[in-house]
Amino acid sequence: MKSLSVAAAFVASVQAGLRFGCSSLTIQRLDPVVQPGSDPSSHLHHIVGGNQFNATMTGDVGARGSCTTCQMAEDFSNYWTAVMYFKHPTNGSYHRVPVVNNAALASGTTGGITVYYTPYDLSRDNLKQQPITVFKPGFRMTVGSPTTNATQAAKHIGLSYNCLTTLINRGPEMRDFPTKPCPAGIFVTHHFPACWDGKNLDSPDHQSHMYNTITLDGFTNAPPCPSSHPVRVPQVTYETVWDTTKFSSLWKSGDPNPFVWSFEGTSGYGTHADYMFGWKGDALQRAMNKSECFYDGCGSITKQDMSVANKCTVKDMVGENIDGWVSHLPGMSS
Ligand SMILES: *[C@@H]1O[C@H](CO)[C@@H](O)[C@H](O)[C@H]1NC(C)=O
Ligand SMILES: *[C@@H]1O[C@H](CO)[C@@H](O)[C@H](O)[C@H]1NC(C)=O
Ligand SMILES: *[C@@H]1O[C@H](CO)[C@@H](O)[C@H](O)[C@H]1NC(C)=O
Ligand SMILES: *[C@@H]1O[C@H](CO)[C@@H](O)[C@H](O)[C@H]1NC(C)=O
Repeated sequence: MKSLSVAAAFVASVQAGLRFGCSSLTIQRLDPVVQPGSDPSSHLHHIVGGNQFNATMTGDVGARGSCTTCQMAEDFSNYWTAVMYFKHPTNGSYHRVPVVNNAALASGTTGGITVYYTPYDLSRDNLKQQPITVFKPGFRMTVGSPTTNATQAAKHIGLSYNCLTTLINRGPEMRDFPTKPCPAGIFVTHHFPACWDGKNLDSPDHQSHMYNTITLDGFTNAPPCPSSHPVRVPQVTYETVWDTTKFSSLWKSGDPNPFVWSFEGTSGYGTHADYMFGWKGDALQRAMNKSECFYDGCGSITKQDMSVANKCTVKDMVGENIDGWVSHLPGMSS
C-alpha cells in the first residue's frame, strides 16, 4: 500500500500540461487555413472547437467566439483533420467512419478530438525546463500533407496510427493504416512542431513558420529551438478515435486496407491536421505558466460541462450529403 501511494504522489507532483476533450462541432468541406474563402474546399474535414469556424477566419477568434465544443470554456480555437471513409471492397461505394470519444475523456464528450498542449513531455514539469510562449491571435498552422508518401519518413514524424484492441488498449504505433481489422477502432495521432519563428502568424505552406526538433514520435521533449525558430510554444497534439468496427465483417482476411482519407488517401502517410488558435485573452498563457498539474490547467481555466459544450454548433455552409453509402467521396471524382 505504502509504495503505491508514494508512486501516485510522485506522478501527481511532476506533471504539467493540458489535456481535454472537444466534442465534434461539424463535418464539412471547409478549410479556412489551406483554402480560405473556398466554399466548398476540396475535401471533407472533421472539426471541433469554437463557433467562429467559417470558410474564412481572420483576426482574434477568441475575442469573437461565443461558444465552444471544448471542455475548456475559454478555448475558441478550431482543430480539424481529414475524415476517414470505408471503401467497399467489392462495389466501391464509400461510407463515412464515425468518430467516438476517447475513453479517457470527460463524460458526455461526443465524438470529437482529444487536445493536448504539452510544454515538455508527459512526465516532467515545464517551468524548471524552459519558458513557453503561447500563440498570438490569428495564428494558424498545419502538420502533415495529403501528398506525403511512404518514402518521406521525415515528413511523417509525430503522425501515427494505433489499432485499438479495446478503447483503452492501443497496441503499437504504426506509420500507416492497420493491415487487418481493429477490434475497437483506429486511433490517429497528430503532433505539431513546438518551435515558432516568433514573427509570422502563418506562412505560404502553413508550416515553414514552425520547426520540428523532434525526430522521434510521441510525447517527447523537443530539443532546443533553432535560431531561425527561437520561440518555444506548447506542443499541440490531437487524438481521434475512428469507430471502424461496423466495417470489420466486410474486410475479408488477406484483402488490402479498405479505409481511405477524404482526400482519396489510400496511403496512411497523407494524414494531416490543421490548427487555428482561438483562446480568449491570456487564458492559455495562464495555464502554461502554472506548474505541477496535468490535464486541467490548475484551476486557471474555466471548464464547462460537456452537456453545455455539446450545444455549440455552426451552420451547414456547404449543404452536401456526406453520409450513407455514397458513390464518390465528397468533392472527389472517384
Ligand atoms: C461566416 O462568413 C460569412 C461570410 O463572410 C458571414 O456572413 C457569417 O456571418 C460568418 N459566420 C460566422 C459564424 O462568423
Ligand atoms: C455497396 O454495398 C453496400 C453494403 O452492402 C450497399 O448498401 C450499397 O448500396 C452498395 N453500393 C452499390 C453501388 O451497389
Ligand atoms: C514520393 O514523393 C516524392 C516527393 O514528392 C517523390 O519524389 C517520389 O517519387 C514519391 N514516391 C512514390 C513512390 O510515389
Ligand atoms: C507567464 O510567465 C511569464 C514569465 O514569468 C510572465 O512574464 C507572464 O506575465 C506570465 N503570463 C501570465 C498570463 O501569467
